[in-house]
Amino acid sequence: MKCRTCRGPAIIDLKAHNANFCAEHFLAFCREQVARAIKKHRMLAPDERVLVAVSGGKDSLAVWDLLLELGYQADGFVIGLGIGDYSETSTQYARDFAAVRGLTLHETSLRDDHGFDVPTAAAVTRRVPCSACGLSKRHLFDRAALEGGYDAVATGHNLDDEAAVLFGNALRWNTEYLARQRPVLPARDGFPRKIKPLIRLGEREMAAYCVIRGIDYIVEECPMAAGNKHLRYKEALNAIEAESPGSKHAFYHEFLARAADLFTADVDGTDAGSGALGACQRCGSPSSNEVCAFCLLVERTAGAVPVTLRERAGADR
Ligand code: AMP
Ligand code: FES
Ligand code: ZN
Ligand code: ZN
Repeated sequence: MKCRTCRGPAIIDLKAHNANFCAEHFLAFCREQVARAIKKHRMLAPDERVLVAVSGGKDSLAVWDLLLELGYQADGFVIGLGIGDYSETSTQYARDFAAVRGLTLHETSLRDDHGFDVPTAAAVTRRVPCSACGLSKRHLFDRAALEGGYDAVATGHNLDDEAAVLFGNALRWNTEYLARQRPVLPARDGFPRKIKPLIRLGEREMAAYCVIRGIDYIVEECPMAAGNKHLRYKEALNAIEAESPGSKHAFYHEFLARAADLFTADVDGTDAGSGALGACQRCGSPSSNEVCAFCLLVERTAGAVPVTLRERAGADR
């Protein structure tokens, strides 16, 4: 097995790209894929400041590292979600990454700064944990980016994540979600731009990238997400990919190239694309209601007895 670039011994084979690489040229390949995604989808201009949402997992630490390698001004932001040891350990990986490299990492904790945590919110609202978790993340990413004057928020969503979400949305022809599934969501109504620079790289590549770059990350998945639908869609796509390398890439990127625009009518038809929003009376964030969904969650969970983490018994199955 020889490196495509230098013909030296290769350490990884990428069947979807019909290529093998040595460590040095694999890193160069990853940088090139991110640079291509940024350029093609106009994610960032060279002088823009980006806030990277880091969970302590491989994807978000890798995207932070890659953006810095490509010369962008990138700071980190981590949210303590209060999901037991999992959250503490994952936050610590983010802190260690930043400390060793002398980077700026902003932090917030749901419990310390907002009075609740994900397990307690799930119990109070009687919904799956990922719903309070996703709502809190979106709100706090937006707020941190605007307060810090960042031009965009970057997340570590990779090709496997995006293909799995697309698969789920296409299975049900969920046209509203299909219309919004873009690698860039432009800034609007006081929300910052959102970008996903890893859409050309998969899970396996990101794990290899971290190992080669010496990036330590939390390997476990969130204990509250165990058994959720996306994990099953990923398994299904992996089975197809094994038989037919490149399928995942084609499925997602051909969707963007040929199909995504067909769904824009839905965006315009919903509140997602409509005119100016008001401001939340509590926190000032853009909101179509007097009080935004996050502040309502803070209100509902105030004073609730904290719930300690329990493994979910497949509530989302
Ligand atoms: P997930 O929703 O867990 O798949 O995470 C998607 C992306 O959200 C990750 O790649 C990170 O960029 C970001 N993210 C997830 N958890 C956190 C967290 N606790 N703090 C900051 N960013 C996070
Ligand atoms: Fe959000 Fe697990 S990371 S519920
Ligand atoms: Zn090489
Ligand atoms: Zn609010």
